Amino acid sequence: MTSLSILVIDDDQSQREVLSGFMKKKGYNIFTSDSGEDGLKIIKKNYVDLVITDFKMPGINGLEVLQKVKDINPEIAVMIITAFGTIKDSVQAMKNGAWDYLSKPIDLDELEFKLEKLSNYKKLLKENESLRSRLAEESIESDIVYKSSEMEEVINMIARVSQSNASVFIMGESGTGKEMVARAIHGSSPRSQNPFVPVNCAAIPETLFESEFFGHEKGAFTGSQKMHKGHFEISDGGTLFLDEVADIPLNFQVKLLRALQEKEFQRLGSSQRIKADIRIISATNQDIKDKVKNDQFRSDLFFRLNVIPITIPPLRERKDDIPLLVNHFIEKYSRQNGVQFDHITTKAMDNLMRYSFPGNVRELENLIERAVILCRNSHISCEDIALKNTQELCDNIDQGLEARVANLEKKMIIKALEKSNYVKTEAAAKLKISERVIRYKIKKYNIET
Ligand SMILES: Nc1ncnc2c1ncn2[C@@H]1O[C@H](COP(=O)(O)OP(=O)(O)OP(=O)(O)O)[C@@H](O)[C@H]1O
Ligand SMILES: [Mg+2]
Repeated sequence: MTSLSILVIDDDQSQREVLSGFMKKKGYNIFTSDSGEDGLKIIKKNYVDLVITDFKMPGINGLEVLQKVKDINPEIAVMIITAFGTIKDSVQAMKNGAWDYLSKPIDLDELEFKLEKLSNYKKLLKENESLRSRLAEESIESDIVYKSSEMEEVINMIARVSQSNASVFIMGESGTGKEMVARAIHGSSPRSQNPFVPVNCAAIPETLFESEFFGHEKGAFTGSQKMHKGHFEISDGGTLFLDEVADIPLNFQVKLLRALQEKEFQRLGSSQRIKADIRIISATNQDIKDKVKNDQFRSDLFFRLNVIPITIPPLRERKDDIPLLVNHFIEKYSRQNGVQFDHITTKAMDNLMRYSFPGNVRELENLIERAVILCRNSHISCEDIALKNTQELCDNIDQGLEARVANLEKKMIIKALEKSNYVKTEAAAKLKISERVIRYKIKKYNIET
């Protein structure tokens, strides 16, 4: 544990020197300043655990220093030095959030004792914090399967943001795991014991947004026979997940923004304002910035929602994750279906590694689920995995033309072989090539026959 960093603010030079000299000898890191104003500048530039400030000084006094320090960083402890016999000042300081006080003449033993107490407290805080973030990381890791550095960044981000209340905006193509990440943030946050409320904004009819989100009183409109709590009320204390957030209609965007700013809302048909303590996580697979540019999404609402952006890269840009995900899903669906598989053939895995997964992890999951159910051997091979190949082959140009064409050629040969029950002459005829050529290519591409 590094020792405390302490700032001493006192206009009395000799007192400043006595205090700082004593604490330096005890191994603390010391800054000094002869006025509150200068002291605050030091705090803005340096890491400080404790401010020891005189109460009475020219310029701003100790109480004002206390207030300003708390504004800058509420975690900095403040100790106020009061004159002999002015117990009222000490009480006032404690009421305003001082950590402790010292009265003149200063008893150095007493000071040392108080500093040790603060050191121990800070040490405990640190241990707690690291324990909490370790626990958070562990629980995330048990759900989200990954190996790539791209996903590692996402995981680190989850651990960092889960302790705060800041709004998170998750972007990523369909099936990349946006909801999974949102749940992981909630699950490792201090709100985890309270509800996680996912709302698919694309599924709500335009006229119902207000009552869905804010709820309504009995009889608020035709058909409202019962009082109904909205998503805001249900997620109080927890996390509200605005899925497909780009689909919120403009007229409701205004109302949502106001409720988020005021942290208050009203049920339809009621004038009572209800307080809501909600953490918001939003997600979309659309180009939200484009929607903002085209005035289809309010920029003020977007800024409010997008305090911490997290982008989940598509699966084709983090292929390192594919083998782990494949094995994870084989295990999951084997367990669910009461079957057992030894392995997946290298060729089948190769094919998966080359595929571009327009539907990302969800597509991979569905492929494996289907293969596990339909496969009749003890291992999963290419035939069990049906990849949508043609259009996809042309979409991804990063591999270069030659590799891409070779890939297509290989896939066409496999398909022709499958369709002709692996009779090579027949497959060659289908492809309008000679038998010699098909034999050559089967060897070249190492195709299972
Ligand atoms: N890294 C991962 N590890 C394990 N499972 C994952 C991972 N990423 C996604 N999944 C699984 O893939 C499926 C899709 O994930 P999710 O629903 O979170 O995606 P999404 O981005 O919200 O998709 P959409 O845009 O279609 O709503 C889920 O079943 C989820 O459990
Ligand atoms: Mg989703």
